[in-house]
Amino acid sequence: MKILFITSELYPLVKTGGLADVAGSLPQALRDLDQDVRVLLPAYGKIKEHLPTAAPIAEMHLLGQPTRLLAANAPGSDIPLWLLDAPKWFDRPGNPYLQHDGTPWHDNDERFGALCWAGVHLALNQAGLDWQPDIVHCNDWQSGLVPALLSLRDERPATVFTIHNLAYQGVFPKSSLSKLELPADLWTPEGLEFHDQLSFIKGGLVFSDRINTVSPTYAREIQTPRFGCGLEGLLRHRSGRLSGILNGIDTDKWNPENDRLIPQNYDAKSLDKKSVNKRALQERFGLPIEEKILMAFIGRLVPQKGIDLILKALPTLLEHPFQMVFLGSGSSDYEHSLVYWSRRHPDQVAVHIGYDEALSHLVEAGADMFLMPSKFEPCGLNQMFSQRYGTVPIVHRTGGLADTVEDAIPPQLKKATGISFDLTEAGALLEALKRAWLLYERPAAWRQLQRSAMAKDFSWHRSAREYCKLYQQALADNHP
Ligand code: ADP
Ligand code: GLC
Repeated sequence: MKILFITSELYPLVKTGGLADVAGSLPQALRDLDQDVRVLLPAYGKIKEHLPTAAPIAEMHLLGQPTRLLAANAPGSDIPLWLLDAPKWFDRPGNPYLQHDGTPWHDNDERFGALCWAGVHLALNQAGLDWQPDIVHCNDWQSGLVPALLSLRDERPATVFTIHNLAYQGVFPKSSLSKLELPADLWTPEGLEFHDQLSFIKGGLVFSDRINTVSPTYAREIQTPRFGCGLEGLLRHRSGRLSGILNGIDTDKWNPENDRLIPQNYDAKSLDKKSVNKRALQERFGLPIEEKILMAFIGRLVPQKGIDLILKALPTLLEHPFQMVFLGSGSSDYEHSLVYWSRRHPDQVAVHIGYDEALSHLVEAGADMFLMPSKFEPCGLNQMFSQRYGTVPIVHRTGGLADTVEDAIPPQLKKATGISFDLTEAGALLEALKRAWLLYERPAAWRQLQRSAMAKDFSWHRSAREYCKLYQQALADNHP
């Protein structure tokens, strides 16, 4: 199949979260299954610096702007990358969606509207590249208008829309409709209108042949008011076309046996060596090198990730022999609270505010336990990295966390790979930590838990095969 994969981030070129990891791995995994995949991505300024040899292959006029398409290869792979070069929209420093003060760029509607139009031209083979995809695979709201615009064309490829996070919807004032040159026909409550505003994500949810999200549990959850962000009715209506496919992880990059970003490599048979990484982590974060249980958190500091539960649990936690390291950035309230606790308890709490890919490997390798009390989690990657590193995840049983972590409760202790809890309350997190602590005190049981976790298969191979099936279904839906 010829597949056009559209994304707004891609590891290692530009990343704010897990979408970049997915875009950096899934196209290659599809290629390994002999699919012909091309990736469309905005040519953010930083990317052009990284890929100085990217060469122009086409020109397109989008929303009154001359733009170019640059061709390059995705780093470390032979997947063709098509970069939408439009300096007015994409030559900006920093985060792809947010300005320095954390608020969205004022023209995100135009920026990603242009990306969608470029996707439409490529999908219809109108860019002079002599290549027409069978499938257009869109990811999150930034490419949501593509299925909507293609739905108006007879000769169109099949469309697949992946929800990586329903909480981000790309909603803009009604005036964006004409600014983005969108046909007025699409402005209906059954179309792109959402409470009198323009919703990019609805373009994907309403009009694509198949919708999927990144775990089976999240696919069910988003059809309920608690997780549906106001779109649960629409998702229930389309439930026959909606499924869940778990993400994989890059098991070459995340491999404790040969990870060059950690001081001591190890595997399931040499878990004793993990303590060298624990010491290095304590040292790096300025914590005393002690025999305490070392817990870790890595992630965006936003309400989704359940930081408030951790903050509420901290006072109780700190009465016990635990140490805790945090690596993340996001809301300044959370950042300040975490720094406050680290100053108050420098022997037990340490915080690194910022984004640090290399450090995240040391955290995964050095910690004993990894906390992910997310309120919702479409898939989540860190609980999978953790299992691969024998670092026991303690997770809220939701979304991808429910689907990837086997809870350590009798009688399935042998299969267990972590600890899960059900209520989004600090008390439930503390209960889970108590269970974890009891297991930790029984070295043989703990080793068993670590080894079962390390034995799990989180490679992309399985997911890529499921995407191939989904593409087949989308093709059948498009041409019944
Ligand atoms: P989300 O996409 O919701 O942020 P995921 O768990 O899917 O959550 O993916 C987050 C990705 O970003 C992971 O690869 C994680 O390691 C990485 N990450 C998040 N915050 C940081 C940070 N401060 N430093 C390094 N890596 C981070
Ligand atoms: C989103 C979700 C996360 C998921 C990632 C990649 O950012 O929050 O759970 O793992 O996308 O699909």
